[in-house]
Amino acid sequence: MSLNLKQPVAFVPTMGALHAGHLSLIEIAKSYCDEVVVSIFVNPLQFENSDDLAKYPRSLTSDIELAEKSGATFVWAPTFEEIYPTKPEIISSGAIGNLFEGVHRFGHFDGMLTVVKRLFEEVKPKYAIFGEKDFQQLFLVKKMVADLAIPVKIIAAPIIRESSGLAMSSRNTRLSEIDKVKATVISKALFSAAKKEPTEKARAELLKVLSSESDFILDYAEIIDEATFEVANEESLNTRAIVAGWLSGIRLLDNMPMRSAL
Ligand code: PAF
Repeated sequence: MSLNLKQPVAFVPTMGALHAGHLSLIEIAKSYCDEVVVSIFVNPLQFENSDDLAKYPRSLTSDIELAEKSGATFVWAPTFEEIYPTKPEIISSGAIGNLFEGVHRFGHFDGMLTVVKRLFEEVKPKYAIFGEKDFQQLFLVKKMVADLAIPVKIIAAPIIRESSGLAMSSRNTRLSEIDKVKATVISKALFSAAKKEPTEKARAELLKVLSSESDFILDYAEIIDEATFEVANEESLNTRAIVAGWLSGIRLLDNMPMRSAL
């Protein structure tokens, strides 16, 4: 397959259901290259549960319009066969892929890395923009690019929040108005923990605030070392709180820097 793109390309891979968070990635991409490619592909390999895959929001026509309005010069919505013409070689996300999100979503990161590598092979971007919202994904993509010496620079883009503090996500469209209010417990916990030192106090604050919303079913809340993705300690230079859980059966993720040495 040849996409006939004007290199160099800045690339924003997505699974569609575009929201302001994605549009901010497209904006960032524009500042790197004239040719901005947005892919829209709901990758079955990264869904551990067929129900979640079936319920994933799909809005291709409005996505294409939104992406183009925001500055995408090429919107690519490949078919499954274009991405996986033969049985793909699954990329292992290794030990870090089995932590946190990986514990709860078996095979998710292997499937995600497999599609990202395939997308990079077709688009051959100079830059690829990934949101910090999926911080473990961002970490693993950077690691894969380094391990496999893929010639692309990964650019990290900050989380975009609703005015309520809720981190923007395609899954938010499935939250009721009441649940959107309840979900703000996550960002409240993160903002509150960010004011606490040392790490132990920040961790305790995170758990305290999260437990104030009984409908939020916590999967994990931890403070990790950004360099290793392992649980942070007092020697860790840059730390980040990561949270995931469920509200009315919808999975929500968020994170925030805690201590920054830089
Ligand atoms: O973050 C996402 O939307 C997806 O995981 C990605 C990077 C597009 C791969 O399918």
